[in-house]
Amino acid sequence: MKQKVEDLDWKNLGFVYRDLPYRYEAKYKDGEWQEGKLIEDSTLVLSEGAEILHYGQEIFEGLKAYRREDGKINLFRPDENAHRFALSAERLAMPPFPEDRFVEAVKQVVLANKEYVPPYDSGATLYLRPFMIGTSNVLGVQAADEYTFRIFAVPVGAYIKGLNPADYIVSEYDRAAYAGTGQAKTSGNYASSLLPSVEAHKNGFADCLYLDPREHKYVDEFGGANFYGITQEGQFVTPKSKSILISITKRSLLELAKKQGLNPVERQITLEEAFNMKEAGAMGTAAVISPVGSITYEGKKHVIYSETETGPVTTKLYNELVDIQYGKQEGPEGWVQTID
Ligand code: PLP
Ligand code: COI
Repeated sequence: MKQKVEDLDWKNLGFVYRDLPYRYEAKYKDGEWQEGKLIEDSTLVLSEGAEILHYGQEIFEGLKAYRREDGKINLFRPDENAHRFALSAERLAMPPFPEDRFVEAVKQVVLANKEYVPPYDSGATLYLRPFMIGTSNVLGVQAADEYTFRIFAVPVGAYIKGLNPADYIVSEYDRAAYAGTGQAKTSGNYASSLLPSVEAHKNGFADCLYLDPREHKYVDEFGGANFYGITQEGQFVTPKSKSILISITKRSLLELAKKQGLNPVERQITLEEAFNMKEAGAMGTAAVISPVGSITYEGKKHVIYSETETGPVTTKLYNELVDIQYGKQEGPEGWVQTID
């Protein structure tokens, strides 16, 4: 059933799938990408032999459209999503979707579903989910030769707890099926994080924190976001690791932290060090910045800053990032694309 705009409660959207009027679809066939178009049907028809169903050839992205105060709509660094999508495609032996067409298609989906972009002061956004799947039949382990690319959109609220601190648990499982694929955004990586996240939620935690898969000594990332900490000396530190997703929010915050004099650095961070951070947070498109209230490891809870209040460095970074995304403040050149 299509989502009616008048049935939406902008302040209580949650982060759930909704079937909006339009999505974009393009198909890859005979060695090339066909022309794409907006369609209304939210379903997909697949053969039982389709690659995606057996060997998981799938990649995806996540980005948001923000309603500005003047009613126009901002996209935040969509060219970066287009580029990472192409890198993910390459890693999974899929034909990259042209980056300019990706950004163009995102704009088409936003405009077609314009009335679903939440109002300026609601705290909600329109989340866009581009993805690509291998659709041709395979039996042996091999790449598909036909693919479907789609982008759908959903209005969303906070993914974790907004700017309220959340509790996390160190996962006993490795996040990725094998190290390295963490850099591509693929369903396979997330499927291996489902059991740990089900267990974490059952025990009252917002998400898992994963350690490096080799030594289980260094912090990697959360199930759906990168990690940062503010050291006792006031430095912004974030893990350097080959098995974490290359986060666009992280790269943006590295730049903002530099401007704010936080002397940011990407380096290995031991779990012990993470417990002793002055402040810490999860960062990502869906998470925005979600403060870490505590990290539990081997049954012991380590409170970071406060379980109820957000630290001043985190608050300042959050405000600057969000102000740029909504167009309240000018960001670095090229970060924001405004559409009417
Ligand atoms: N890490 C994981 C596992 C994620 O799912 C995400 C979300 O996309 C991120 C990090 C943050 O990436 P980005 O800031 O590009 O959204
Ligand atoms: C995003 O932030 O876009 C993500 O993909 C995270 C996902 C867990 C919702």
